[in-house]
Amino acid sequence: MARINWNEPRFDSGALEEISEVIRDSYVNEGPKTCELEEMIRNYLGVKYVVLTTSATAALFLALKADAVIRGLEDFEVIVPDMTMIATANAVSWAGGTPIFVDVEIARGTIDASKIEVAISNKTAAIVPVHTLGRSAEMERIMDVAIRNNLTVIEDAAGALGSKNGEKFLGTIGKVGCFSLQSNKIVTCGQGGIIVTDDDKYYEMIRRLRDFGRLSNKEFLHEIEGYNLKFNDLSAALALSQFKGIERRKAMLVEQWKFYAERLVNVDEVKFPVVDLNKGEVPIWVDVLVEDRDELIDYLKSFDVHCRACWPSVHRNPAYRQDSVVGGRGVGGSDELVEFRFEGADYFADNCVWLPNGPAIDVEQMSFVCEKIEEFYSSPKEVKFEKIHEDSRGAIHLAEGLLKGGKEFTFLEVKKGAARGGCVHDKDEYMVIVSGAIRYICGDSEEVLRVGDSRMIPAGKAHAFIGIEDAIVSEWGITSGEKKMDVKDSEMRAMVDRVNEGR
Ligand SMILES: Cc1ncc(COP(=O)(O)O)c(C=O)c1O
Repeated sequence: MARINWNEPRFDSGALEEISEVIRDSYVNEGPKTCELEEMIRNYLGVKYVVLTTSATAALFLALKADAVIRGLEDFEVIVPDMTMIATANAVSWAGGTPIFVDVEIARGTIDASKIEVAISNKTAAIVPVHTLGRSAEMERIMDVAIRNNLTVIEDAAGALGSKNGEKFLGTIGKVGCFSLQSNKIVTCGQGGIIVTDDDKYYEMIRRLRDFGRLSNKEFLHEIEGYNLKFNDLSAALALSQFKGIERRKAMLVEQWKFYAERLVNVDEVKFPVVDLNKGEVPIWVDVLVEDRDELIDYLKSFDVHCRACWPSVHRNPAYRQDSVVGGRGVGGSDELVEFRFEGADYFADNCVWLPNGPAIDVEQMSFVCEKIEEFYSSPKEVKFEKIHEDSRGAIHLAEGLLKGGKEFTFLEVKKGAARGGCVHDKDEYMVIVSGAIRYICGDSEEVLRVGDSRMIPAGKAHAFIGIEDAIVSEWGITSGEKKMDVKDSEMRAMVDRVNEGR
């Protein structure tokens, strides 16, 4: 099977004709083709105004900047989900604001609306919900929070052009909606962005800011400082040819998502974040949540199947990391930034992979990808043994890759007369005696265990082993991260030290 790329664009038959027209007419600046595309998008989405720009990042920037200028804001904060492409946060900073991150829901990867209100302070100006890969953020609830707190809602629908939440297209619910025309989107011209709004004042401010601050298209009178973030007719022509076939493109993406979901339904290890197809959501990419994500990516790569790991959660990027303070707020919206947990966002960052889809991928290729995923989860894993510690009591070996989800499987030598332990774990762990015999002390109880005996070591109980004969004990069930959080029971630890000193 030839190389399978993650997501590549393909152009419709009319593309060359549309572009040739622009070249023939020599009007390559923003002109009639841009107007035609704007008009087509306006009719399709049912909005009052459409403005094209250079990227979705620029679109978000212009919307946020317009909001700040209209409301006279200088020092302001904007709430964004912690799981998004970094562009969402960058646009806030670019407009002079500070992004405040809120965690996402694990079921859908969109902002957790129940956590927005605690992140609001007296500087909060706006919320930017992201319709991640065509999944709608919980807009009813977000609009309610925004209205009650006088916040502007600017929708990041970069990857959601044509996707719906019931009757409404995503991007048309808040004050302003922003879409991307970048190369792995449903309609593309390489780079480009779309801004939509029904609001006269926001439209006029966005239009001016995008066009050097100019009062109207023909005048050189600048009341405000603006930018040049205009579009061009060559890009418009390319996007136009695809936009004419947007319904066909939407149907293809839905079919591809369904193909993967149905074909992998019996692979328990592969979980699909919810996509509400009945409400008109269009999954622009196929994202799945798996443990061993990076191993799966490497495995597929060895068959020339190229997937992509999801974005890192935004707070993990050095650009937005402030020591241990990662941009959350204390309950009640106090002005103090406090450490905040982003479990949902980090879960996506660590476990989400985007499978190959898009107009360049056919059923045979998707079938091959599924076959290899099935193979990855059904074939026995290669187990590597690594000696991670050694002293006079014996060595500790780690069997890497034996258990899923980073759970460790260790083999501990306990020489005759030596003692190990004194720890208290947060989670239940398991053990079996592989050879020899030990005295097993757990909490207040003590017993002799011999080859083949096994026990569950309960969470919260200090435990220790003392070798009666040279023994090997195997322990498993918790991850190294969980182990790091272990506390030592000082009394049992002192007993272990006394036994070892007396050998
Ligand atoms: C959620 C989100 N926001 C913003 C952007 C930025 O879009 P652009 O590349 O058009 O600037 C992207 C790009 O993929 C995105 O996925």
